[in-house]
Amino acid sequence: MATADAPRADVERVNHVLETLLNRGEVPARLREAMRYAVLGGGKRIRPRLAYATGRLVGASPAALDAPAAAVELLHAYSLVHDDLPAMDDDALRRGRPTAHVCYGEATAILVGDALQALAFEALAGGADAAIAVRQVALLAEAAGAGGMVGGQALDMEGETRRFSLAEVERMHRGKTGALIRAAVMMAAATGSLAEEEGTALDRFGGQIGLAFQIRDDVLDATRSTAALGKPHGADARRGKSTYVSLLGVDAARQMAAERLQAALGALAVFGDRARELAALARCLATRSF
Ligand code: IPE
Ligand code: IPE
Ligand code: MG
Ligand code: MG
Ligand code: MG
Repeated sequence: MATADAPRADVERVNHVLETLLNRGEVPARLREAMRYAVLGGGKRIRPRLAYATGRLVGASPAALDAPAAAVELLHAYSLVHDDLPAMDDDALRRGRPTAHVCYGEATAILVGDALQALAFEALAGGADAAIAVRQVALLAEAAGAGGMVGGQALDMEGETRRFSLAEVERMHRGKTGALIRAAVMMAAATGSLAEEEGTALDRFGGQIGLAFQIRDDVLDATRSTAALGKPHGADARRGKSTYVSLLGVDAARQMAAERLQAALGALAVFGDRARELAALARCLATRSF
């Protein structure tokens, strides 16, 4: 059952799972410390929250959602560590603190990303139901890889060298950010029982809210202070990135995010009032202020 305190409970729950995952195994001390730094030091835990909220919608038990919720956050944390590297966005601030490579050096930061990615799949592989775990591994691999997050990041780099069309920016956003957000929803959906049209609706919801989330990120980059964001203000413009803001301006980008949010909410109509919690979370993501 969703309660008013569900978001906080979800964050606490996934933090506990992440803590356990990051403490296990024989790991060189400095590498473990850097992995913990990258994962546990802040972050809104949006993707785990989407996973838990989707799971509640499809009638999954909280325990069945721990692995996908933690896995998508580990994958996301890895993507942030690599995104900030000098060879990529070259950012020194993340979640209000120095980035991993600033604290631990580039080589360790690269290895942190590699290790977090592997740990994400290890977490999924430990799921109680083998058939569901395989499905989740496939969903996360597809979302993380060259056709998803990594592919989107490749386009993002290319977008620094030439001006993208709107269609190209959308493709980049679907990949670099949308794919993992969609995977958070679909991995959770895989734990419950759904009619075919409900699965299609969640897929559509995940895609649309993923786009809204990254468009909002572009708007915030251009409009909010470094202190408010916990990451550098104006980083996209400084690097000459192709974004919704650089192509359309802030107001039209805001409008585009609002349209994507409406499309995401529209997709949930098939669930009626049962999707209230997921709809509220979607509104939060698309209108967030950091
Ligand atoms: C930041 O994601 C990077 C994007 C994909 C836009 P979040 O805004 O979810 O970052 P954290 O996890 O809260 O730091
Ligand atoms: C990040 O996009 C996408 C991934 C990390 C995969 P951004 O480069 O816009 O994210 P921020 O603004 O640095 O958080
Ligand atoms: Mg980037
Ligand atoms: Mg960046
Ligand atoms: Mg950004």
